[in-house]
Amino acid sequence: MSVQSDFKNSKPGRWQPAVTSDPLLRKHGALGQPISRIDGPLKVQGKALFAAEFAYGNLCHAALAYSSIARGRITSLDTDAAEKAPGVVLVMTYKNAPRMKAPSLMMSSPTAAGASDLPVMQNDEIHWNGQPVALVLGETQEQADYAASLIEVDYASLPAVTSFADAKKKPRQLETVLGEPPVLEIGDAEAALLSSQVKVDGIYRTPRQNHNAIELHAATVAWNGDELRVHDASQLLDLTAGQLADIFGIDKSKVRVSSPFVGGGFGGKCLWDHQILACAAAKLAKRPVRIILSREGVFRLVGGRTVTEQRVALGANSDGKLDALIHTGIVAMTLHNSCPEQFTFPARHLYAAKTFRIAQEVADMDMLANTFMRAPGESVGTFALESAIDELSDKLGLDPIELRRRIEPEKDPTSGKPFSSRHLIEAYEKGAEKFGWHRRTQKPRQRREGEWLIGMGCATATYPYYRFPGVSARIRLAADGNVTVSTAAHDMGMGTATAQAQHVAVRLGVPLERVSFEYGDSSLPRGVIAGGSTQTASIGGAIIAATEVFIEELIKLAGNDSPLAGLSLDEVELRDGGIGHRSDVARFETYHSILSRSRREELVCQGEAAAPAEMEAFSMHSYGAQFCEVRVSEITGETRVSRFVGSFDAGHILNAKTATSQFKGGIVMGIGLALTEETNFDERTGRIVNASLAEYHVPVQMDVPQIDILFSDEADPQAPMGARGIGEIGITGVGAAVANAVYNATGKRIRDLPITLDKLI
Ligand code: MOS
Repeated sequence: MSVQSDFKNSKPGRWQPAVTSDPLLRKHGALGQPISRIDGPLKVQGKALFAAEFAYGNLCHAALAYSSIARGRITSLDTDAAEKAPGVVLVMTYKNAPRMKAPSLMMSSPTAAGASDLPVMQNDEIHWNGQPVALVLGETQEQADYAASLIEVDYASLPAVTSFADAKKKPRQLETVLGEPPVLEIGDAEAALLSSQVKVDGIYRTPRQNHNAIELHAATVAWNGDELRVHDASQLLDLTAGQLADIFGIDKSKVRVSSPFVGGGFGGKCLWDHQILACAAAKLAKRPVRIILSREGVFRLVGGRTVTEQRVALGANSDGKLDALIHTGIVAMTLHNSCPEQFTFPARHLYAAKTFRIAQEVADMDMLANTFMRAPGESVGTFALESAIDELSDKLGLDPIELRRRIEPEKDPTSGKPFSSRHLIEAYEKGAEKFGWHRRTQKPRQRREGEWLIGMGCATATYPYYRFPGVSARIRLAADGNVTVSTAAHDMGMGTATAQAQHVAVRLGVPLERVSFEYGDSSLPRGVIAGGSTQTASIGGAIIAATEVFIEELIKLAGNDSPLAGLSLDEVELRDGGIGHRSDVARFETYHSILSRSRREELVCQGEAAAPAEMEAFSMHSYGAQFCEVRVSEITGETRVSRFVGSFDAGHILNAKTATSQFKGGIVMGIGLALTEETNFDERTGRIVNASLAEYHVPVQMDVPQIDILFSDEADPQAPMGARGIGEIGITGVGAAVANAVYNATGKRIRDLPITLDKLI
């Protein structure tokens, strides 16, 4: 079964209902409607069980002790006091932990899930400041926490690279940046820059950031013989199941990981040491174990966004056309993780230029493995690139939207591939109108209200379209007309289940109330990670493939006595609770009738989406225009975002309400990136010193103004359902939109995030 047939006859460009082959896009009904999340009532009634809420008899509670050096060896471990403390069930260290294989790095194989490939509590080696050195199981959480505080560890330190400046002296060349070449050159960009009439050339810096989802990382785990049951908070449960099987040397069929509800996941709810340690301790203690990281624990063992230093240089002629686009730089990484923070990705696809030089390298440090965090690469890459575009527009004396109009490419500027669908300029035009962009003055520092300087900025948002192969879905049609679609997907609150239920209702021609979407369990047909804004299209492709099998099976079941007799897959459509000829309304039979005539209780079909050939043939990206108004106090340097408009071109929108929330959530996180979020990493010791929400500042309600969201709803003819992903794009461009607004307000160009008061006074 192939998902290809879903879009093989379609044409790029504006969506034309008459030419696409996806019957879904000809239908009206539930798709696109702003339906509230179907999991919402369970959550507000407290009936949705999260990872740490599963009850087991004889359950014990885990607490961790963390290393306080960045690199070296453990020379002594005194656990006596902890072992004697009240309620202690077990103290586990590298000395008594079960022997386990090290995780494999994510993307190194189709089943690998490790954010790091370091062995977990298997020897005396310390690789980062904050590495777990002991796990205590207690009858209560408080007893475990207290006992963990009694553990004494001595270390022999080894020289550690904890300064980014030192690490940068020995840059490492990557072989690939997530499948793209780390260096990409078209023409001689440095020479072209030198001879350009107008140029900007700047260094932009972005700090480390840590994951701070509301729900702390947690798992409840239990062994039954050699079968392992894990209730996780996960955005990659299928991979987690396979990886845990590998680590403990058991068959994947023996591991079941479920994660129906997740209290926020932005790339951090993956497989880290805590789940592995909880499984190991449960094995050792022969009791079910619950582990909940403290907020500090999340900072210690869950990696986040790494530090970047980027150069963007633009050379233009006097009408703004680019002679040279240079985007290069370096990020901190470790030898034990797989996230190179692909900040150069936007520059490869956004603007037309005669020459390009794009290059990124990494600097290895002794630190916690960094990882994916909402729009890894693009969020910080667009800060640099889109700030530079603004600087260029300022030098040219040209409105920044007009500049972008002049450098809008006709095809992908570096790959030469056609765009599947691109409406960036329209997004700018719609956003500008909503925002009132015409009131902005090109010259900075022109508007003030008392101590407050007011400015407006804009920036481009962009994120690639990805779809994963190997994703399956199962459709179960019951005799009563109810439909259940199952796949090992994730809903972390973004509306996966709701949007796909809408999709199934429209595709199968049944009322939404009759559709259940079953997800969040590794025992279901193979799903996909909830990451990289890939899940919606990947599941969509699997449901389309399963629907093709479903139609074939229905035609077979209907047999020769049916009005459908003799019809082929291409001649039928699903509508009104049944299947019929596309144009001959008389040739129709309901699902109920087909099942009862064939004396079947149910029809179950499964399909797997074909490889994502569309990604090879087309340059596929989502776009957006971010508009920000700021007020900056001339006295304190305090910046307040006072208005925000996000105008997006992300393909067909499957649910206007949940999509709007996704875009808004991204923008809120972007406001944090722009103004407050920064992990303070002590460069002497490699210790994160602000490991709490009191000192690591995420935006709160009072930091977030009215945010207006617009979207084009232009179906992408190459994507299943016409939909590209929307999870990450909201955060991209926000850092630059805020920085550009700060420049417009104050005349000060801030190239280092976050834009704190000290940088403005
Ligand atoms: Mo994300 S960084 O794809 O959860």
